[in-house]
Amino acid sequence: MRLLKKIAREVLGDEEVWSRIDVVGDIALIHRKFNYPIDKLKVLGQALLERMPGIKSVWAVEPGTKPPYVLRDLIHLAGERRTETVYREHGCEYLVDLSKVFLVPRLSGEHLRVAKLVEPWEVVFNMFAGAGLFSILIAKMKGAKVYSVDINEYAYKYMVENIRRNKVEGLVVPILGDAASVSLWLRGGVDRVLMPLPELVPDYLDFALLALRYPGKLHMYLHVLVKRGERPRDAAKRVGVPLVAKRCSSFEVERVRLVRTVGPRVAQVVLDLTLEKCEPSPRLGKPYNPKEFLETAPLN
Ligand SMILES: C[S@@+](CC[C@H](N)C(=O)[O-])C[C@H]1O[C@@H](n2cnc3c(N)ncnc32)[C@H](O)[C@@H]1O
Repeated sequence: MRLLKKIAREVLGDEEVWSRIDVVGDIALIHRKFNYPIDKLKVLGQALLERMPGIKSVWAVEPGTKPPYVLRDLIHLAGERRTETVYREHGCEYLVDLSKVFLVPRLSGEHLRVAKLVEPWEVVFNMFAGAGLFSILIAKMKGAKVYSVDINEYAYKYMVENIRRNKVEGLVVPILGDAASVSLWLRGGVDRVLMPLPELVPDYLDFALLALRYPGKLHMYLHVLVKRGERPRDAAKRVGVPLVAKRCSSFEVERVRLVRTVGPRVAQVVLDLTLEKCEPSPRLGKPYNPKEFLETAPLN
């Protein structure tokens, strides 16, 4: 980090830009502020390549994500025109294409924190798994069974490959499909649900509650607007607790954490909950077709 800061200061006279650089495997991603000149970032990209031997390719990440896969546009800045890389975290290794699958190294601490909370006997449901980072670490550290779902066929493809690389076949069950459909299938069979996609929490909370057996654990990730003078954790409770209280008559908030800052006064937070008694009311209008998620995607 210190080297990134030094290079950013020397090349652009802008120290602040270093805090927007992520290194994933041998690829550096520079999160571009709206309208920040690409030419300046290209100069920085070239300097990163020359001075950091581990970096082979540099890309600018455009602001804003595109639903439903939460991807961002990438602009090539320097080095190899390649977006696939191997990323290592907590003793696991993940192959991932950063243009096709969501991966943010800043969630690394959160992956470990949640994995530590899991008991080996638990059945875990990861509703929005991406390339499988939470799921694989939980299985590898704790030997727990994890149903690991993503709707993006590339996320699924890389998740399958990463399960193989980390030797957790049989423990992590990769599923391509909509987490809502999978909840109906798992109904009442899981001890812990992870919801690491803030945008879908309000619509998918009922499905998470349907999948759980009680008492059950829930990790609910939210984006909250932090009011002036408010602490992010208080904002998390202000937004998160009413969502749960609407459906659950008995529950406890075990922990509330600031995960990362995602915009001016916008924070990603997580509430860890133990739920005792809930009454989910999912919209069951959509016909339920198990084939929808049990079919595997073409692997090429
Ligand atoms: C924020 S990313 C997950 C990141 C991952 N947990 C990690 O730590 O690397 C959210 C993921 O949810 C997936 N997704 C979006 N809508 C979905 C749905 N309805 N059902 C299942 N997955 C969905 C996206 O494709 C994306 O990969």
